[in-house]
Amino acid sequence: MSSHGAPIPMTSTPCGPLTGTAPVPGDKSISHRSLILGALSVGKTEITGLLEGQDVLDTAKAMRAFGAEVTDHGQGHWSVHGVGVGGFAEPDQVIDCGNSGTGVRLIMGAMATSPISATFTGDASLNGRPMARVTNPLALFGTQAVGRADGRLPMTIVGAVDPVPVTYTVPVPSAQVKSAVLFAGLNAPGKTVVIEAEATRDHTERMFAGFGAEITVEDTDAGRVITLTGQPELKPQKIDVPRDPSSAAFPVCAALIVPGSDVLVPGIGLNPTRAGLYTTLREMGADLTYENERIEGGEPVADLRARFSPDLHGIEVPPARAASMIDEYPVLSVVAAFAKGQTVMRGVKELRVKESDRIDAMATGLRANGITVEDGPDWWVVTGLGHGNVPGGATCASHLDHRIAMSFLILGMAAQSPVHVDDGGPIATSFPIFEPLMSGLGAQLSRTAG
Ligand code: S3P
Repeated sequence: MSSHGAPIPMTSTPCGPLTGTAPVPGDKSISHRSLILGALSVGKTEITGLLEGQDVLDTAKAMRAFGAEVTDHGQGHWSVHGVGVGGFAEPDQVIDCGNSGTGVRLIMGAMATSPISATFTGDASLNGRPMARVTNPLALFGTQAVGRADGRLPMTIVGAVDPVPVTYTVPVPSAQVKSAVLFAGLNAPGKTVVIEAEATRDHTERMFAGFGAEITVEDTDAGRVITLTGQPELKPQKIDVPRDPSSAAFPVCAALIVPGSDVLVPGIGLNPTRAGLYTTLREMGADLTYENERIEGGEPVADLRARFSPDLHGIEVPPARAASMIDEYPVLSVVAAFAKGQTVMRGVKELRVKESDRIDAMATGLRANGITVEDGPDWWVVTGLGHGNVPGGATCASHLDHRIAMSFLILGMAAQSPVHVDDGGPIATSFPIFEPLMSGLGAQLSRTAG
């Protein structure tokens, strides 16, 4: 089932070269943070290039429920009149975050140190995901959480009336957990310290600094030590959201495996904490070039050009790189199917608790399409068949997971037979223009079942 409405079966038929420009939507992580930080500022934040995917629209709706004035001016231009740190009002409705783990976890953090309560829910995927990883550190501030068994949504968060600052070592590599603690730290007096052994995406740290919070980051033997001084007055900003490298991954990977392709993705964010896929693809022999590298709004940005790469080969992806490409493993496994030899992916336990169990979802679908995949608790290995040799022909379950649906549609573009997905509906959570954009490059997508 699609998160909102009936399932949308889709088919991707093998196609000719993909060519042209692929202006993918705005970055999902930065879009969520722009709305929440705008809501916590005093005055009007202007955002351009906002991702208008369902995940982010759900966060916009939530910010209105907490008292911010959020206005859609059209074509990705939004403004947020914030209520200031500690200024959230108590929502009178349940907050439905749809499919979005980022949305719910960051918003829980943002309201956790205010004297209000809120009840959160989501779709079947989100309501099955672990929330204790966020509510455990929030409890240290004095916040209470009452949810279903195993810390699942629906869940009510009772904000701390007299929050205390905390020092917390994040036990799993998760930017969502780190960010939830930092958002909670905004309304706690004194210094909140978050330590992460492995660096994860750092948009929260960069954007807190941009909005005027006092935040420092120190690299130590124990990892990155982030220190935030609580109760700042956040100053509204003008934010131009860069295009999402995680969405760019789909046209880029498609170009690498469809013979004759040449695709340019303009203005994508290439923050090093997000760019691991592109390093990995180059190591596999991909023809990828960065053009016009620049800094925009504090984030490194470039135009990325991808051309068909006839000599892709499997590699062992360094586990230390996992956090910088965590959302890209599904589509990497598709490229791996067209590479020669084995692609080994280790240290990726987190993939099992995303919108779906992504190792299981991809392994099952790839096997059905004629690819050998082995997997264990925190690893998987794809044995590639090389260009022209991937059979395809199967129907794959997307498990309410946008990246699973898009990955299998990319597989179909270069397989011998069409590939079907049972439900393309979730694609709208992060990449609502996926179908027209990919079709415009030359893909053959249709809304038909296998
Ligand atoms: C995100 C962090 C990652 C990522 C998600 C977006 C963020 O999740 O998978 O798509 O914006 O902070 P985890 O922090 O759970 O790894």
